[in-house]
Amino acid sequence: MGVDEAFQRRNLGRRLYKKLEEELLEDGVRMVIADTEGDNEEAISFFKAIGFSPRSEHIWLAKTLRRPVKVAPKGGRVKEILPEIMEAIE
Ligand SMILES: CC(C)(COP(=O)(O)OP(=O)(O)OC[C@H]1O[C@@H](n2cnc3c(N)ncnc32)[C@H](O)[C@@H]1OP(=O)(O)O)[C@@H](O)C(=O)NCCC(=O)NCCS
Repeated sequence: MGVDEAFQRRNLGRRLYKKLEEELLEDGVRMVIADTEGDNEEAISFFKAIGFSPRSEHIWLAKTLRRPVKVAPKGGRVKEILPEIMEAIE
């Protein structure tokens, strides 16, 4: 979530989250996970202020899924090549 810099520290973030949480409660949601950069001290202070507690043992990993690229050499048949092979032959 984000609040325009010019309007930060005016309780807008707190009010915005409160509204979201009311709706999540109505929908039966039992846990909310806030995801932010580890060095975003402002965001971490904000989330703590609105009731989130750190779960430092939790590590969040990501993997970008790469799909094969379709190539059609002149006069040749369309082939599917993995992006990393494409990069190597370009
Ligand atoms: C994080 C963010 C949404 C907070 O919105 P906001 O409207 O400024 O926050 P609020 O005014 O509702 O602050 C509520 C409480 O959070 C804490 N807090 C908020 N911003 C803070 C900051 N920069 N430093 C320390 N504490 C902060 C304070 O305890 C604050 O209460 P207080 O003002 O009475 O001390 C806003 O700073 C923002 O948009 N940041 C950039 C985007 C971002 O980092 N988003 C989160 C990552 S997902």
